[in-house]
Amino acid sequence: VQIGVLGGTGPAGAALSVRLASVGYDVVIGSRSAERAAEICEDLAGKWPGRELRLAGADNATAAGADVVVVSTPWDAAASTAASVASSLDGKVVISIANAIARVENELQPLLLPRGSVAAGVQAAVPGALVAATLHHVPARELGAVDAPVEGDVLVCSDHLEATKQTAEIVDRIPGLRALDAGRLSNAAAVEAFTSVLLQLNIRYKTRAAVRFTGIRT
Ligand SMILES: NC(=O)c1ccc[n+]([C@@H]2O[C@H](COP(=O)([O-])OP(=O)(O)OC[C@H]3O[C@@H](n4cnc5c(N)ncnc54)[C@H](OP(=O)(O)O)[C@@H]3O)[C@@H](O)[C@H]2O)c1
Repeated sequence: VQIGVLGGTGPAGAALSVRLASVGYDVVIGSRSAERAAEICEDLAGKWPGRELRLAGADNATAAGADVVVVSTPWDAAASTAASVASSLDGKVVISIANAIARVENELQPLLLPRGSVAAGVQAAVPGALVAATLHHVPARELGAVDAPVEGDVLVCSDHLEATKQTAEIVDRIPGLRALDAGRLSNAAAVEAFTSVLLQLNIRYKTRAAVRFTGIRT
C-alpha cells in the first residue's frame, strides 16, 4: 500500500511518514514544494541510515495519487489542501490528524469549528473521499523515533466503515499502538478537542502524556 502525506514536511507528517515507512509502507511525503519534500526525505534517510525506508518527496498533487492519503497540514489549511487535490481523492481513504487549538499565553483552548471538527471540514471539502479522523493524541516525537514502540490507544472516527477498517489497520501496524473504533465522524469533535487537555497536562506535568483506555479487550 502506498500512503501519501499532504503537508508531510512538518514535524507530525515527517514523523508519521518515517514511522509508516519503517513498518513497510511505501510513503510519498507531499508539500507545496517538491524540493522541500525531497530535503525532508533526505534528512529522514540520514537519520535512520540502517533502515530501508521507501520514502519519496513530491508535491501535494503527486502525494495525493497514493492509495491512502493523510492530511497533515495545520488545521486551518486541511480542508483547502484536500480540496486542491479533490479529484485524486475520490473513493479513497483520507486520514485527518489535525487538531484545532489556540494557545493564549499559557492556556490551550480547543477551537469550536462550524462543522464540529477539522475532519468534518475535510469530509465536506472532499465529499467523494472516505475521511477518517485519527492519531490526534500521538506526539510527533515518539512517532518519529522508529527504534521504539509508541505507547497508546488511538481513536478512529469515520462515517465510512471501510475508512475505519483501513485506518485501524495502518495504526495497528505501528508497534505499541492500538486502534479503537470511536464511531462516526461527529465524534471527531470530541477527540480533536481533547488534544488540548492532553497538551495542557503535558505543560503541567512536564511530560508527553498518551491515552490508554481500560476495560476494552481487543
Ligand atoms: N506535532 C504533533 O505532535 C501532532 C500530533 C498529532 C497531530 N498533529 C497535527 O498534525 C498537523 C501537522 O502538524 P505539524 O506540527 O507538522 O504542522 P506544521 O509544521 O505547522 O505544518 C505541516 C506542513 O503543512 C504545510 N503547510 C503549512 N501551512 C500551510 C498552508 N497554509 N497551506 C498548505 N499547506 C501548509 C507545510 O508544508 P509545506 O510548506 O512543505 O507545504 C508544513 O510543513 C496539525 O494539524 C497538528 O494539529 C500534530
